[in-house]
Amino acid sequence: MNIRHFLTLIDLSKQELNQLIQRAIELKKMLRAKQQHEPFKNKVLAMIFDKSSTRTRVSFETAMIQCGGSSIFLSLRDIQLGRGETIEDTSRVLSSMVDAIMIRTFKHEDVELFAQYSKVPVINALTDMYHPCQLLADMQTYVECRGDIQGKKVAWIGDGNNMCHSYIRAAQQFDFKLAIASPTNYQPNMDLVNQYSNYVELMTDPMQAVKNADLVTTDVWASMGQEAEQTKRVRVFKDYQVNNSLMSVAKLDAVFMHCLPAHRGEEVSAEVIDGKQSVVWTQAENRLHSQKALLEFLLKT
Ligand code: CP
Ligand code: NVA
Repeated sequence: MNIRHFLTLIDLSKQELNQLIQRAIELKKMLRAKQQHEPFKNKVLAMIFDKSSTRTRVSFETAMIQCGGSSIFLSLRDIQLGRGETIEDTSRVLSSMVDAIMIRTFKHEDVELFAQYSKVPVINALTDMYHPCQLLADMQTYVECRGDIQGKKVAWIGDGNNMCHSYIRAAQQFDFKLAIASPTNYQPNMDLVNQYSNYVELMTDPMQAVKNADLVTTDVWASMGQEAEQTKRVRVFKDYQVNNSLMSVAKLDAVFMHCLPAHRGEEVSAEVIDGKQSVVWTQAENRLHSQKALLEFLLKT
């Protein structure tokens, strides 16, 4: 059997991604209608976390329970991987027991190596380089709130980080234009930008990026693992806050998204994240529905 992994958005075709989004919307309606749906009966998801998480952990765990399966939370503090057992051996062993494995860690190459030795689907639940699961929820949210994202303008404001990199891949996979405004030295990976140059425009001026945007999004200035740089980053990014003045140059019906957790008063003002254009709570909830759709796809249920 051909195993499919989900390490970045290009592991699925455009058609598969769009079908997955539609399925997520359907699964959400089914849950609202209290329709029982248990395709993961007897299926087990192993969840390896080497970084903190609220949304990712709870959404994957809830998805498995609601769909009749179960999950095992594995912190690196508890499993032998954290004491030096190799990724290869851990992958061989875990994948001989469970039906899918989800990993949140630092190095993207570690997740790639894990997938290489796994007999079951591996899901990237965030690395320093990509956060593809979040993009599934973001795309579902845009479709639900505004319809098709094809041909729309998305503005990414702030750090050229893992979320930004996933937006770059999403731009190609979902066919939208992405304007990225980041300070010099905090821009996204240039190989990636050049590879997707038909879809991506890089600049330093947030106003220029947000002008006429349909979707405005940002993320924390210091990601997990960059805590020591927090003070410096607050200085560097001070002109990159998404606030009412910035939102005023976007389209009137533009939506604001943030993967969360958010720092009000830093990358986003309270008036924006708690304001009318913000769809962040729907976006967070959609992690549950889109990941159910992803698990259905990968587990072929
Ligand atoms: N957006 C996101 O992945 O949130 P968590 O870090 O809480 O999982
Ligand atoms: N860029 C953030 C995203 C958190 C969901 C981080 O990696 O910490």
